[in-house]
Amino acid sequence: MIKTRLTEMFGVETPLVMGGMTGVGYGPLVAAVANAGALGFITAHMFQTAEALEAEIKRTREATDKPFGVNLTILPSLNPIPYDEYRRAIIETGIKIVETAGRNPVDHMPDFKAHGVKVIHKCTSVRHAVSAEKLGVDVISIDGFECAGHPGEDDIGLIVLLPATADAVKVPIIASGGMADGRSLAAALALGADGVNMGTRFMATQEARIHENVKRKIVENTERDTLLTNRTLRNTARVARNAISEEVVKIQEDPTKTIEDVRHLVAGVRGRTNVLERGDLDGGIWTVGQSQGLIHDIPACADLVRNIMRQAEEVLQKNAARMAVPA
Ligand SMILES: Cc1cc2nc3c(=O)[nH]c(=O)nc-3n(C[C@H](O)[C@H](O)[C@H](O)COP(=O)(O)O)c2cc1C
Repeated sequence: MIKTRLTEMFGVETPLVMGGMTGVGYGPLVAAVANAGALGFITAHMFQTAEALEAEIKRTREATDKPFGVNLTILPSLNPIPYDEYRRAIIETGIKIVETAGRNPVDHMPDFKAHGVKVIHKCTSVRHAVSAEKLGVDVISIDGFECAGHPGEDDIGLIVLLPATADAVKVPIIASGGMADGRSLAAALALGADGVNMGTRFMATQEARIHENVKRKIVENTERDTLLTNRTLRNTARVARNAISEEVVKIQEDPTKTIEDVRHLVAGVRGRTNVLERGDLDGGIWTVGQSQGLIHDIPACADLVRNIMRQAEEVLQKNAARMAVPA
């Protein structure tokens, strides 16, 4: 059994987290993750209204009596996102754990604090981790350059970012980006983490409601099969290498190009509908991390979590034995 500040704070069996994932983080997967002993998050902005989010929280609660949370990704959007109403739904349904990402959660902290909701803030730099701790967040999830989605603009891999964050903040830390198995967990613990966050790994599970073609492609892909789009717009995204992401990168070789030149290609709804739902792997942009190079199967969440924990314990024990200096 690996117990950390994270398992104690949230009352979960393992220090494994599945962060919010647009197009993936629905109730059934979150419940499967919770039942497996890990901590999953429903991704709020996939639901157009707070009422729809509330219904998803209730549906998830019917499928698990274990803790789970809600992800609030706070990003500028063309269509206004009802963050205040989401916050009300979170508090009123009794959710006690929130993962925030994008902007820091300054506007939401007083209400969450007043209602005993713990906040995990996911960020990509030590300086943002330090400011989030000052704001009163309970846990920092630090996302290295390897991660799926938005790695920020500093390009610092987790092997440096994680211990640098551990040196800079006192609250518990979750290592995120590139984490896929028990070796990742053992290494993250050694570098100062209290747990690990996995996105890509949980996409390739039986309970993830995405097309089988996508799961198989994750297994087939290597760590080299991601691309960085929107670098020139300072809104970098790590996504799967495919015909569309290659086209976007090509267009963006010209630094004068704006979002308008690629909007039709990068539209999130296009990737979600064509790729995640219909399984057309070149039908749009889809998010995935370098950790796909470490993923070789599509297990049920319960088996995945059990195997990760068993491997982490083995690695920690073997290393302790290997390094032991004879007296
Ligand atoms: C398909 C997909 C969608 C994601 N969408 C979001 C999101 O909406 N909000 C968010 O905070 N993180 C999002 N992420 C990032 C994950 O929560 C997590 O931080 C990341 O996947 C960690 O890197 P890994 O994939 O190497 O494990 C997404 C990741 C994936 C794979």
